[in-house]
Amino acid sequence: MGMSSTVRKVVFPAAGLGTRFLPATKAQPKEMLPLVDKPTIQYGVEEAVQSGVPNIILVTGRGKNAIEDHFDVSKELESFLESRGKRDLAEEVRKISDQINVSYVRQGEPLGLGHAVLVAETLIGNEPFAVILADDVIDATPPALAQMIGVFEKAGGPVLAVERVPMDQVSNYGVIAGVPAPEVGTGVYRVTDLVEKPAREDAPSDLAIIGRYILTPDIFPALHETAKDKSGEIQLTNGLRQLLQSRPIYAYEVDGVRHDTGNKLGFLKATVYFAMKRPELAAPFLAYLREVVKNRS
Ligand code: UTP
Repeated sequence: MGMSSTVRKVVFPAAGLGTRFLPATKAQPKEMLPLVDKPTIQYGVEEAVQSGVPNIILVTGRGKNAIEDHFDVSKELESFLESRGKRDLAEEVRKISDQINVSYVRQGEPLGLGHAVLVAETLIGNEPFAVILADDVIDATPPALAQMIGVFEKAGGPVLAVERVPMDQVSNYGVIAGVPAPEVGTGVYRVTDLVEKPAREDAPSDLAIIGRYILTPDIFPALHETAKDKSGEIQLTNGLRQLLQSRPIYAYEVDGVRHDTGNKLGFLKATVYFAMKRPELAAPFLAYLREVVKNRS
């Protein structure tokens, strides 16, 4: 393919309504729900920065101002913290805004993930780009996106992050069929088909697409041609299926621990997981969890 340009921009679709977290998400975006003390979306933004891609395009909608404020510099907060001698905290809140370059684009109506990617078209232009769904928080070294960029540079085509999931969960995901592509790398597949949220019996495999993509700009015309689904949404999986007719697409099993924080159980698991990684919390939190378990049995 000879795709030579590198990934410089990451799109964060964040215009969904977060209905699974109502009432918490009535007046607050779900992307701002914290894991320990950091909003879920900041984990994704830090992953992008650590993967060498600090240009962030946030696709937002109604009621998402808190995300914009979060990544903005807050002089008042910083001077307040400094005046109270809390210089470390002031630096902590400042750090992320200094490291990124954010643009915002509005998705007027939540018409699907494919549509959310389409509204970023003008800001992306004619170059490859990444998509991070902040719901999927991935703890990995090197970061998940950095791993995928490595695969993209070898494969020269779109790369979808995938993970094997139990067959009774495939209907929550886009699912791929693929053949191993060891010539590109370990854990890499050449995609032969993609199906959005298949019934268990129709799923072509147990390889589910998770919230990381590296896409090429030819996804835009493919998405423009993609029909809306039953609920009137344009699905990214269907756009990729369209694109697969004209170019190879790859899938890659990320080496890391993923939490789907978009559902309650996944969110709770992620909270425990990240709390246990904090030296100041791990021991007392574990003692507390043990006590809870003991009192229940
Ligand atoms: P989800 O379906 O998981 O998010 O979309 P949601 O719609 O906000 O949540 P529920 O299902 O109602 O609880 C995956 C990602 O795509 C974004 C969402 O913000 C989320 O990050 N998205 C989805 C958009 O930006 N626009 C859309 O039209 C749909």
